[in-house]
Amino acid sequence: MKKFFIFASIFFLASADDEYATNFIADMKWNSKFVKYGLAGGNVDELRALVQFTLDKFKNVFGTLITWEEDTDLNHLAKYDRYVLFSLAKHGCGTAFPGNYGPSMIVLARQPCSVDIGMAQILKVLGFTTVHKRADRDHHIRILWDNIPPTLVPYYEKFAPLMNTTKIEFKTYDLCSVLHPPAYTYYAYDVNKPIFEPIDISKMECVNGTKNDRKVSNNDIAQFKAMYS
Ligand SMILES: *[C@@H]1O[C@H](CO)[C@@H](O)[C@H](O)[C@H]1NC(C)=O
Ligand SMILES: *[C@@H]1O[C@H](CO)[C@@H](O)[C@H](O)[C@H]1NC(C)=O
Repeated sequence: MKKFFIFASIFFLASADDEYATNFIADMKWNSKFVKYGLAGGNVDELRALVQFTLDKFKNVFGTLITWEEDTDLNHLAKYDRYVLFSLAKHGCGTAFPGNYGPSMIVLARQPCSVDIGMAQILKVLGFTTVHKRADRDHHIRILWDNIPPTLVPYYEKFAPLMNTTKIEFKTYDLCSVLHPPAYTYYAYDVNKPIFEPIDISKMECVNGTKNDRKVSNNDIAQFKAMYS
């Protein structure tokens, strides 16, 4: 009887405590919710306008959970444990180099690159990574390894350190997320064939465009708020 009871309670714990995969790196979270930033190089006035435009849009869409504050003295900025440096893209539609100590870099691009791609770079510096890195991704997409050149293989592998959570917002694996990579890429062996396909093929329309077609989704907003509220 006692044995049965122990067995039953372990079973209960395992099933009641539902965990979801995330695309969030726990130790990349800004616990202070306060981000000091600076502008690195180039045409500072143009860059400042682009940063302001992108941050304003981010606050409109994701809310004001994070406080952003520019420090125009880069030497002073470098004394913070953690800060963000923005710069202007010379080519491409922007990228991010997140770090949990010292500078995190965000490269923003002018139009025709979309402000959504700029917001995706901000999400990356705040601890999110691309959705296809989630532990549960094989239930949602099938990677077509034969179309992926060896140098790109690491990018399409899962990332074990990603957090697991009981937060219900992460139940959805969102193919329409601004952080989900497109199914077609210029770097594929055969550019006319995808490098992955959704298991539910009706979701293909979320990922069949270019990176610049991607839009912030309602799940992106809900998942951001779940991490930062
Ligand atoms: C989350 O769960 C997955 C799958 O069970 C595992 O591979 C991963 O290491 C876990 N992440 C952490 C941070 O423990
Ligand atoms: C993506 O899919 C949608 C819906 O199926 C379709 O209308 C659109 O033309 C497709 N775009 C590309 C670039 O294939």
